[in-house]
Amino acid sequence: MVKVIFIEESGTRREVDATEGEPLMYAAKDAEVEGIIAECGGSAMCATCHCYVIEAPEGSLPAPEAAEADTIEFMANEPQENSRLPCQITVTADMEGAVFQVATGR
Ligand code: FES
Repeated sequence: MVKVIFIEESGTRREVDATEGEPLMYAAKDAEVEGIIAECGGSAMCATCHCYVIEAPEGSLPAPEAAEADTIEFMANEPQENSRLPCQITVTADMEGAVFQVATGR
């Protein structure tokens, strides 16, 4: 298991166990992280899993692919440079301790 942290809209920090090789969104859903809706089920279509990367070990998060970048640009509320869709992030051991802020305003 890889421990990552989600900060919910309310400011609550949630330490979540994520499984290597699985989309990060699954870990957030399993832990019922507030604000991670994941309406499209993980196909990078809805942006309701939108988060901001607050901190992550260097090199642990490959850059978004085109589908993710497009959905962030056109669907996400208040996209920023550090916006990501956790459904498009595959959990790796390198991500231990990474911190994600759940985006607000859906
Ligand atoms: S679950 Fe829909 S974009 Fe991530």
